[in-house]
Amino acid sequence: MKFTRNILCIGAGYVGGPTMAIIALKCPEYKVTVVDVNEERIARWNSDDLPIYEPGLLQAVQAARGRNLFFSTAIPEGIRAADIIFVSVNTPTKTFGLGAGMASDLQHWEKTAHQIVAHSEKSKIIVEKSTLPVRTAEAMERILSENKKDIHFEVVSNPEFLAEGSAVNDLLEPDRVLIGSQQTETGLQAAREIADIYSHWVPAGKIITTNLWSAELSKLVANAFLAQRISSINAISALCEKTDADVAEISFAVGSDTRIGSRFMTASIGFGGSCFKKDILNLVYICRSYGLEEVADYWEMVIRMNDFQQGRFVKKIIREMFNTIVGKKIAMLGFAFKANTGDTRESPGIFVAKKLLEERADLVICDPQALGNARKDLAGLDGNVAFETDPYRAVAGAHAIAVITEWDMFKKLDFEKIFAAMQKPAFVFDGRNILDHDRLFRIGFNVFPLGKPSLTHFR
Ligand code: UDX
Repeated sequence: MKFTRNILCIGAGYVGGPTMAIIALKCPEYKVTVVDVNEERIARWNSDDLPIYEPGLLQAVQAARGRNLFFSTAIPEGIRAADIIFVSVNTPTKTFGLGAGMASDLQHWEKTAHQIVAHSEKSKIIVEKSTLPVRTAEAMERILSENKKDIHFEVVSNPEFLAEGSAVNDLLEPDRVLIGSQQTETGLQAAREIADIYSHWVPAGKIITTNLWSAELSKLVANAFLAQRISSINAISALCEKTDADVAEISFAVGSDTRIGSRFMTASIGFGGSCFKKDILNLVYICRSYGLEEVADYWEMVIRMNDFQQGRFVKKIIREMFNTIVGKKIAMLGFAFKANTGDTRESPGIFVAKKLLEERADLVICDPQALGNARKDLAGLDGNVAFETDPYRAVAGAHAIAVITEWDMFKKLDFEKIFAAMQKPAFVFDGRNILDHDRLFRIGFNVFPLGKPSLTHFR
């Protein structure tokens, strides 16, 4: 079959893999190739044991792979053949030097840009897919235009808004697709070409085109606003615990105001994931670098509130278990940063586990998808940690249960059986408010929900 366009994606991670699978699925006339330096990762994309778990992803990959979707480690060849290159390499938070802990580490991005120049023989559109600080495209353009081959690279920003666990659905039915480009003739033409890809399945009204800088900054701002809502309701959950208010009732009552809306208002142990913290710190860093101290402080508080919420959860466990958890067995139900993913990046579970181990508790961690990552996250720490896929085995002989992730399977457990198998007094700390607290109390548990009165049998 003759393909009308060659699309390449550099970086076969959480963003590149699913995005390209859906583009290939929806645009059979385009050849879509995903490349990565990591051979093992590419081998897994070529197998039925994909490197990431997303509902619906395997089916999408199986439908297009070998037809017009290819995974490979041949980066130079891929670059040479491509008309459009999506760059979706990782841009983690810098861990060293200037801006450590806040700014994005752009070394992979820059390396990729140089590689593109080295192996290109014709003009191309370069699409920024990684989350990047505002005005990165400018730097990219400089690197790309410093070539003596007389070829033109047009840089376009097309930030992703997919959430893990619902990535395939977010790709199939996005709220919007954002495409930022230079407002020049070639820039606008490049934006149209990228819009053409998405218009295979996304209604025209949902494809938004802006200038480059607006597109880049929109990504950070969208995540900052979402995280701010969670930190806001989590701040209120702390106040609820001091009063007789119930955070779930408040969330419902306030969220019923259509101007506010009900989504991203569920109180939790805190938000995690690869995006929120990183993007907000990036925003803070950018604001500080422009001398906007108040703006930086304002957004930084969203992160501080999130740290406070996680710290509060651990302190409550220690306080309520009579101020000592030395040698007590605590079963952590969940470790992923949210349900339906095995991803543990920035998961509150990591913080909780570390703090409980410092207090010398014995931990059992139970999660249907995240145990592999949990093992890596906790490797090298002192203390007793066990990993268990079966929740009933995890809680046997435990003094307390701490719910970290809102997996459906935890809601459906037989808590009478669990109570019988636990040490007494038996404690439940529900960091996600997913369990039936009244019922647990009737069974005999001492229950500590989030932002609601605790239910204890102590006098
Ligand atoms: C997020 C953005 O939603 C997405 O648009 C962006 O592109 C990447 O970052 P993701 O990190 O996959 O996606 O997860 P998301 O569903 O947004 O949840 C983030 C965190 O907030 C999770 O830890 C989740 O448990 C928590 N959360 C979410 C709450 O605590 N309360 C809520 O009401 C919603």
